[in-house]
Amino acid sequence: MSDASEPPVRFEQDGAIAILTLARPDKLNALDEAAVEALGSLCRRIERDETIRAVILTGEGGKAFSAGGDIGGWSGKTPLEFGRFWLREGHAVFDALARLRQPVIAVLNGHALGGGLELAAVADLRIAESHVKLGLPEAGLGIIPGWSGTQRAVRRFGALAIRRMALFGEVFEAQAALELGLVDVVVATGEGMAEAKRLAAKVCERAPVATELTKMLINAAEGEERERVLETMAGMFAASTEDLAEGVAAFRDKRRPGFTGR
Ligand code: COA
Repeated sequence: MSDASEPPVRFEQDGAIAILTLARPDKLNALDEAAVEALGSLCRRIERDETIRAVILTGEGGKAFSAGGDIGGWSGKTPLEFGRFWLREGHAVFDALARLRQPVIAVLNGHALGGGLELAAVADLRIAESHVKLGLPEAGLGIIPGWSGTQRAVRRFGALAIRRMALFGEVFEAQAALELGLVDVVVATGEGMAEAKRLAAKVCERAPVATELTKMLINAAEGEERERVLETMAGMFAASTEDLAEGVAAFRDKRRPGFTGR
């Protein structure tokens, strides 16, 4: 049983690697509002932590990475509430995860269904253990894949696999998911975390700023966050000039700035 005092998402740090674990195994790590909120606040914490160089996202229990959005929480929501406080807020959090500065590795140590697959899609790399299944069952419940299953997932995986899951209800096993590009690596059951730590260690060996900028550029190429990437990179470059210090000093001293163009 879930313990109400336990956080819905556990945070651990192993050297420079942050590990986020969905911690509601008795409900197959279904994502309720508390879990979505916890993921959002962990993103803010990870963004600001310069000691974190890579992130691993996984689920507790071995049966499900996540069986998706918490279906029980849907009843009683008006359509407007469903849109405003479930889909929209979920989107904001999944966007924040996909746009984290640090590379993210998802360890699918159990099934990734619906919102669970949409959550896996935010990662830069997906490792599936051989027993897992992936699918988008939403239309069978009378709803759509609303946490970017028809958008980011299509951008990242291509429309073909998404159509098969979302329109025809196909559920793919790990090996088929690998062939379709839904996951990047398949390992034996129980070996996902070790493989993720091995890959995360590789990330940590490389130059942090170059890695961060490269991730931003790839995201921009994918249409993930083009505007923010352009302005962030240009802003960083402008901030590296002596002119910024001069502009700020001139403002503080109430004088005209003497820009040098350096
Ligand atoms: N939301 C809320 N609760 C969920 C859930 C979800 N998405 N998925 C599973 N659970 C709960 C079950 O209600 C059950 O709770 P209970 O023990 O209190 O009854 C528990 O997790 C275990 O699930 P159960 O269905 O008994 O396991 P199973 O092995 O028979 O079936 C699945 C596994 C994944 C096939 C089945 O749970 C399922 O179809 N889940 C829904 C998947 C889905 O449609 N996700 C899309 C939502 S975006």
